[in-house]
Amino acid sequence: MIRLGVNIDHVATLRNARGELHPDPIDAAKFVKKAGAHSITIHLREDRRHIKDLDVKRICSIKNLKVNLEISTNPQIINIALKAKPDFICIVPENRKEITTEGGLNLKRNKKQLKKIISKFRNKKIRTSLFINPSIGDIKISKELNTDCIEIHTGKLANLVKSKKKYQKELERISECSRIANNLSIDVHAGHGLDYKTTKLLTKVKQIKEFNIGHYLIGESIFYGLNTVIKNFKKLLKRKK
Ligand code: PXP
Repeated sequence: MIRLGVNIDHVATLRNARGELHPDPIDAAKFVKKAGAHSITIHLREDRRHIKDLDVKRICSIKNLKVNLEISTNPQIINIALKAKPDFICIVPENRKEITTEGGLNLKRNKKQLKKIISKFRNKKIRTSLFINPSIGDIKISKELNTDCIEIHTGKLANLVKSKKKYQKELERISECSRIANNLSIDVHAGHGLDYKTTKLLTKVKQIKEFNIGHYLIGESIFYGLNTVIKNFKKLLKRKK
């Protein structure tokens, strides 16, 4: 079964816009689970622009909820993550000025540091994923780093699809990387910029076991409700078989 992870960062964005407590990402996490998502994702950014430290603590303590915590390699954030003990970690690059995570990690430059971080989480039995661009070189380095999973950055594909440009090459690149990673026994996930159309295209890549979707899903929920939108995505993910 293909898993659906729902990124609820933008529920926190909305809450923070008022500086009050509503809408509460904790309620969103519970609601998303009830609607049938397999996990929720939150990103504790260094600038705390959406999810805050207390959100991490509270969300990670919800019973029977699988939490995927996205983090950078900042040592303070790593310590918070080790204390919060989420089920899953996804290491992402972070740049203060970006609106969203713009690309995958630079594995070559950060090999030593990443290897250490992955082994720290492994010792705590936390599944760890690396957010990377669809690049064969990066898949090979991911194997050297002994990561459990990779999450392929699908932003370029999503942008090509949305702007009605040719996307076949990028889709083929993602397929090839997914096949190679799978052959190396690395679990393959995908995320960034996904809407119904791009998700449906990617369900053809049978090695992708998990999709992590945020902005579009939360945006659509303003019109149709979280329950309906999550069910729509789950239907798409089932069609693959
Ligand atoms: N996966 C990762 C690793 C991300 O950093 C993000 C964005 O926070 C997402 C998935 C979700 O992307 P989007 O909000 O564009 O669906």
